[in-house]
Order: sequence, then C-alpha cells, then structure tokens
Amino acid sequence: MKAPAVLWFYCVLFLRNTNALSNHTFPTWFKFGAATASYQVEGAWNEDGKGENIWDRFTHRNSSRIKNHANGDVACDSYHKYKQDVQLLKQLGVDFYRFSISWSRILPTGYPDQVNKAGAQYYKNLIKELKANNIEPYVTIYHWDLPQPLQEIGGWLNDKLVDIFAEYARTLFSLYGNDVKHWFTFNEPRQICYEGYGIGEKAPGLKLPGTGPYKCAHVLIKSHAKAYHVYQENFKEKQGGKLGMVVDTDWYEPATSHPLDREAAERTLQFRWGWYVHPLVFGNYPKIMIERVARRSKLEGFEVSRLPTFTSEEINYIKGTFDFLGFNQYSTSLVKHRPEPEIGIPSYDNDMGTFIYRDPTWERGASDWLYVVPWGIGKALKWIKSNYGDPEIIVTENGFSDHDGTLEDYKRIDYLQSYLSSILDAIHEDGVKVTRYTAWSLMDNFEWYSGYTEKFGLFHVDFQSKHRTRKAKKSVDFYRNVIKSRKLNKCNSKTDS
Ligand code: NOJ
Repeated sequence: MKAPAVLWFYCVLFLRNTNALSNHTFPTWFKFGAATASYQVEGAWNEDGKGENIWDRFTHRNSSRIKNHANGDVACDSYHKYKQDVQLLKQLGVDFYRFSISWSRILPTGYPDQVNKAGAQYYKNLIKELKANNIEPYVTIYHWDLPQPLQEIGGWLNDKLVDIFAEYARTLFSLYGNDVKHWFTFNEPRQICYEGYGIGEKAPGLKLPGTGPYKCAHVLIKSHAKAYHVYQENFKEKQGGKLGMVVDTDWYEPATSHPLDREAAERTLQFRWGWYVHPLVFGNYPKIMIERVARRSKLEGFEVSRLPTFTSEEINYIKGTFDFLGFNQYSTSLVKHRPEPEIGIPSYDNDMGTFIYRDPTWERGASDWLYVVPWGIGKALKWIKSNYGDPEIIVTENGFSDHDGTLEDYKRIDYLQSYLSSILDAIHEDGVKVTRYTAWSLMDNFEWYSGYTEKFGLFHVDFQSKHRTRKAKKSVDFYRNVIKSRKLNKCNSKTDS
C-alpha cells in the first residue's frame, strides 16, 4: 500500500475502535517495555561454556513434538546480536526490556559451584548496552530452561532445588544487582508445572497428571520464597530493587449467570492463578483447592492429599514474599459447571472439575488458545485488586500471534490498542495499581512446541537468513506512538513519528 492508503487504512482501524477506546492518558509514572526469554531468542546453545538445559534436550531428543522439528539452537541469535536488539528497543522508545537469564550459561551444571565467566559476561554486556541507551533491564531469573543435570535429579519434583535455585538467584543478585532493580523469579509457573510435569507438552515432558503439577508447584513456591528472603536479607538495602513472580491466567468468565457456573469460573481462577498467588499473598493454597484435592485423593485411595501441605513455619516464610505481582494475560475463556468428575485416574483437571471453552465468534490469533477478548484483562485486573489486597501489578506479557509474520500487522495493532485501552480504564476508573505494560514480544521467536509457526514479534525476524535480519512491523510505529503520546485514539499517530 502507498503511504496515503496506509494512513487511511490505519485511521479506519482506529475509528473502528474509537468508541470503545479509553480517552484516558497513561500517567507519567507508567512505564512501557517489551519482553523476550533466553531460550526463545538467544541461540548459541552450546557456545562459550554454556551447559545443556531441558529445552536443548527436549528439542534434540523429541523433535517430533515440536512443529517442523524446530529448536532454539540458533533462534534469533540474540547471543551475538544483542546490540541490534537494543537498537530495536530504542526504536520503540521503551523504558525497559524484560529478558530472562539462561541458568546454564551462568552455571553450566546448574549447581552454584563455578560461574562460567563468558556466560556471565554476556549479560553484563547486554545490561551495559541497555543502560547506555537509557533502557532499564528487568530480569526473569527462570523462564523454563532448567539445566539438564538438575533434571537428572528430578527437576522441580526434588526439594533440593529450593536451595539450589536460591543460590543461583544469589549469584545473579551479586553479579547484576547494582544495575537490575526489577527481578522476576519464575515466569508462568503453571506452564512449568502443568505442561512440563502434568501433561508433558513442554520440557521435561513428564506425564504425571495427578501428582507432578502439585509437587512441582510446591517446590517452585518454596524456591521463590527463599530467593525473596536471600534478596531481602543480603541485597535489598544496598541495591534497592524489587522482586516478584510472574503468574499468568486467562480471565475465566461464567458461561451464564447461574450460581453453579459462577462458582465454576471462580474455582478455575483459584486453580490457575490462586494456586501460586494465594501462597504469596496469604501463605497457603486456596481453600477450595485444599478441600477438593484432599477429598478426591482420599476417594482414590491416597493416604494423604496429592496437594502437599505447607508447615506453619513455611506459611509464615512464604506469606508476603513479593513487592509486586507480574501478570501475563493474552486471552479469556468461558466456564461452565461440570458435574463432579468420576473417581478414576487422578488429575489436576479432574480436581478442578470445570468445563472450559471459548466463544467461536471471538476473533482469534494464530495460537489455538489465543482469542481476542480485551474486556477480559480489565475484569481480571479488578478481580486481582479486590481479592489479593490491591497489590502493585506489572503486566509482564500481552501480545498477539499470527502465522505469516506480516509486516502489515494491523490485527496486532488492533489487539494491542484494545487491551491497552482496557488496562487504562482499569487504572483510571477502577483504581487498579497497574504500573507497567510489557508487549510480548520484541521480535518473532521460538514459540515452544509450536516452533517458529506462531509469531508474536513487533519486529519480524527472517529465520531463513543466517543473519536473522530484523525488520519493523507496522505495530512498531503504533507502540512507539502510544509510548510517546501516552494516549491511544489518535488517527494521526502514524504521522507523529
Ligand atoms: C507465555 C510465555 O511466557 C512466553 O514464553 C510465550 O512465548 C508467550 N506467553 C506466548 O505464548
């Protein structure tokens, strides 16, 4: 399309949504960012002393479980192209970059015995480059790539990981804490535990549907709490940073106003979000989870509940271990009451016992779980505010996928502006303390078992070229203009740039 045609099309897009768009302005303290994760972008899987991690192993040994047998061996080659990545961030005008650290690059065996100097230097360089460009580094300590040797001892099913993780976190605080003021311990623990240890869709690919997810979550929550205390006791005063966990959830909307459907939707939120956030805020799992898993475990013949219990010391130790809540949201689902599932094979899904589906008329992204429902994020934010003590919330991920990675990504623009609008209203009209927004993702990358078939990037990456050339999509202009103007509904925003 020629420039005026593009402009017209762009305006129509805006006008189409103008009525629905928030007129509010992002407050001056509100910050914008973009995110990636180590395994999804770095490549260099075996360079400079990096150890093997569970995603290296999973993609190499189970390649048939990944679309087109893809892997992250090279990915976006950010290990070599990080300076270019920082220039992309600069082009966007973001305040911060949320990236994750590859544990095996820092500690090749996973154990905190010896730091790999080259690996540690890579993140030093990246952070230095970000700071030189006025972009704050926001670091995720664990975004799914566990060192393989730690999987050999059971991975997140082994309590030993609590201390090992805390030591890994301590290493990062010592190495980077003078420059990093925002730390996220775990990204999306439900995906780690349910998909990795329950249904086996993600590394390490274990299928233990009734026990794996719960044990894994128990170890993760204790690991998080320990890392929080390590930071509080040894680094907080000097470094002055903040720490939290990133938990994701769809918004779960009752399919009807029937009390049973409402109850089912609330139960789903508790099983998905409350599972992790309840312990952090209140010290223990949601009551409904404790009761249901205990009851079903008993009927199944277990002597104790499949949901492990925290001791009272643990409850005190875990409660309050966050400075903010990281929140990833992409989509919404509908929930219907489901009659109590029969006692049979124990599973997390049967414990939750709800029927979850999507409205087929909703617009969709390329990912089979991604439906465009902007009002869902507003409802979720309000729900978090009122049920979890009005915490500071950082939206740590939100974004849209397509298959073709088109540069004319108007659907992504539509998605981002409608979700941002809902967030703006939640801030101004409902007083939700959302302080930051992070677009997923800075660039197209390795989308786990979907390989390179689902593209979330603001920047396109040419995976056919050995240079992994990056190119701005139209959404780059859009996001840059939002950041610059701190507003949404501007037909002329394209000409501002
Ligand atoms: C969640 C994950 O944190 C990220 O790794 C993934 O690529 C996106 N959402 C999209 O699925």
